[in-house]
Amino acid sequence: MREELLPPAPVLPSRRHLLSIGDLTALDVERLLDTARSFELSLEREVKKLPTLRGRTVVNVFYESSTRTSASFELAAKRLSADTLSIRAAGSSVDKGESLKDTALTLGAYEPDVIVIRHPQIGAPHLVARLTRARIVNAGDGTHQHPTQALLDLHALRGAFGRLEGLHVAIVGDVSHSRVARSLVQALALVGAHVTLVGPATLIPRGIEALGCEIAHEIEAIGAADVVYVLRLQHERMQAGASFVPSLREYTARWGITPARLRPGQRVMHPGPMNRGVEIDPRVADAPDALIEAQVRAGLVVRMAVLYDLLTTSPAGVREASAAEVA
Ligand code: CP
Repeated sequence: MREELLPPAPVLPSRRHLLSIGDLTALDVERLLDTARSFELSLEREVKKLPTLRGRTVVNVFYESSTRTSASFELAAKRLSADTLSIRAAGSSVDKGESLKDTALTLGAYEPDVIVIRHPQIGAPHLVARLTRARIVNAGDGTHQHPTQALLDLHALRGAFGRLEGLHVAIVGDVSHSRVARSLVQALALVGAHVTLVGPATLIPRGIEALGCEIAHEIEAIGAADVVYVLRLQHERMQAGASFVPSLREYTARWGITPARLRPGQRVMHPGPMNRGVEIDPRVADAPDALIEAQVRAGLVVRMAVLYDLLTTSPAGVREASAAEVA
């Protein structure tokens, strides 16, 4: 039987989880980014493994495809000496009809400290948080949230600009089907950055201004931004048969990010995976000042910071371990 997952019910904060950017304060974000920076410095050493989470267990469960998020969470846990267990829905007992509830109860019986979960349905990580004693990290639930992506984007931005407050970020493309956009708009608002969502009216949800951003339906609006953050068309989350753009060719012609559409000094980001030649011109993706590779690198240290933070910080945001453990 299919579980009823909508809407996500609040999860009581007896343990710290990371289900949404909405769980975080500006101070939480600052602490996480500072911790990520400490880990970044530690990874410059010849021996990259830290003993910090020895004896802890991190389970990664991915019900949707992933390259960056799944690889970086696994590597992050290993860099911190945690035991890891990674499960993909394909090839697991999900193929035999096992429900999310039974999978969560089964994995919970192994007493993991953290469960990282990606699932196509909104609210799946909230359900697992209620069914197990683990700390839960939302690695993407439907069109809802992808909080670690937003945090790694902040980390990459702070590395490139040396600040976050006052930056102007234009997020371009399919906002309607993007959990990345929702999380990032909230995260940028928390740190005092300015956001403009740019795209056709069919791909920008009504009322999203309430998250703290502006909307523009002309591509020229990117001209005012410091950063152009490109989203792909997320066909896998569009209803079958629904049409949001006249054709891919027309979308690229009107909304694709090309060198001619950028002004000198603008930096380009993309969460990946990219559809080169559709939403982003390969010359933009491969430009030396693009931040796309910096985002991937940020993914590792930010996810190390998130795992560390969940296991060492109280729900009120008080760190219970010494900073020396990080360095
Ligand atoms: N950005 C992102 O979530 O990438 P993956 O789907 O490869 O994890």
